[in-house]
Amino acid sequence: MKIAVIGTGYVGLVAGACLSETGNDVVCADIDERKIARLNAGEIPIYEPGLEPLIENNLAAGRLSFTTDVPAAVKASEVVFIAVGTPPDEDGSADLKHVLAVARTIGESMNGEKVVITKSTVPVGTARLVRQEIEKTAKHPVHVCSNPEFLKEGAAVEDFMKPDRVVLGVDSEHAAEVLRDLYAPFVRTGASVLIMDVPSAEITKYAANSMLATRISFMNMVARLCEATGANVDSVRRGVGSDGRIGTSFLFPGIGYGGSCFPKDVKALVKTMREMGVDASILEAVEDLNASQKTTLLDRLTAKLGDDLTGKVIAVWGLAFKPNTDDMREAPSIVTIEGLLERGARVVAHDPVAEEEAHRHFGDRIGYVKTNYEALDGADALVIHTEWLPYRHPDFARMREVMARPLIFDGRNLYDPDAVADEGFEYHSIGRQPRVPAGA
Ligand SMILES: NC(=O)c1ccc[n+]([C@@H]2O[C@H](COP(=O)([O-])OP(=O)(O)OC[C@H]3O[C@@H](n4cnc5c(N)ncnc54)[C@H](O)[C@@H]3O)[C@@H](O)[C@H]2O)c1
Repeated sequence: MKIAVIGTGYVGLVAGACLSETGNDVVCADIDERKIARLNAGEIPIYEPGLEPLIENNLAAGRLSFTTDVPAAVKASEVVFIAVGTPPDEDGSADLKHVLAVARTIGESMNGEKVVITKSTVPVGTARLVRQEIEKTAKHPVHVCSNPEFLKEGAAVEDFMKPDRVVLGVDSEHAAEVLRDLYAPFVRTGASVLIMDVPSAEITKYAANSMLATRISFMNMVARLCEATGANVDSVRRGVGSDGRIGTSFLFPGIGYGGSCFPKDVKALVKTMREMGVDASILEAVEDLNASQKTTLLDRLTAKLGDDLTGKVIAVWGLAFKPNTDDMREAPSIVTIEGLLERGARVVAHDPVAEEEAHRHFGDRIGYVKTNYEALDGADALVIHTEWLPYRHPDFARMREVMARPLIFDGRNLYDPDAVADEGFEYHSIGRQPRVPAGA
């Protein structure tokens, strides 16, 4: 099949590479000239495990190409995926200007019947707007479908290749057939292909992300109760999650959800619900709790070291909003670090892959180091934002030697509190009582 994927970000690039892997001819188009130049030079602009060989192999096989010429990509294809960004507008709604700009280009470039699929996360009703935009100029029939993407950054290739389910909102039997055929190689092990009407598919994506965000805020709320009462959230989480009706996923307390999806998708769903006159109070509470959870580490650190941090050195482990990605959009680390800098601290940070992204946010306002231990040199405290695997079993003796003060604020509950205190550290984590070393 000849496919165009418009937008080569985390979603478009992964979708394009995976669709070419199953033998389709895929052209990925983006208006970002620098990005396309890098891709054509064999450089992958994002960190995503498994993506690089996939792109290399399919480029070499001639099944995958990159261009800035969006109209040419549309003309060359029977199926066009829209995978551009839908960032939050000032009022929290999804900003559709990129999606509708692509729809306009598609309309102007229609040279035959095409199936157009919105993969970007868009509010219910967007497919109708996309169709209107295309039909302003199109002289050929168009099918406008919704195929929301559920991949997780950090496991995006794996998720696309072996999805839990594929949701297809279709407007015609022809579109359903084309999409079923396209996805057949990815669902051979029995994952469901759920065919539905377009508005239901559009809502499914927001409802799924909002449910996951709700679980996180819910457990962060429970963690606060544990802290207030002397209970241990790890035990509560296990007790709750082992109920088959509830399950264990997305029940880890922490420093709030971030990333490019949950924050903006919950906001956008709240906005849609308000517009439709539907009570959104559950999601409003989820958002409020998340916002205050993001300041947890900063609040604890200033309670301990004071509000004036002039002359203090704070080590940061982890900048990305979660492991296995370099994405820092809405990362809790930004909230902590900006607060530390405002209070005069010197921040030295380590992240295995997000240094380039961090530069975009902080420039040279913070120091960057290549190994996590280097960050600890003379540090008055260590703050942990991301549960990268190499942080899980550190050499505590080595840490104690180089830090000015043995003090850890762990936003991801990486360690056993008693064990860390036995190593001589004062240790603050989430939903568990702080620990101090014996005799301190
Ligand atoms: N990142 C995720 O994990 C994820 C998961 C599921 C769904 N989504 C959704 O997928 C969509 C894309 O997300 P992303 O993270 O890949 O975004 P991104 O910001 O990484 O990439 C978007 C790309 O679209 C390009 N673009 C913008 N306007 C364009 C135009 N008119 N023509 C061609 N290209 C254009 C940009 O240059 C950019 O490269 C969003 O709606 C997002 O909510 C993202």
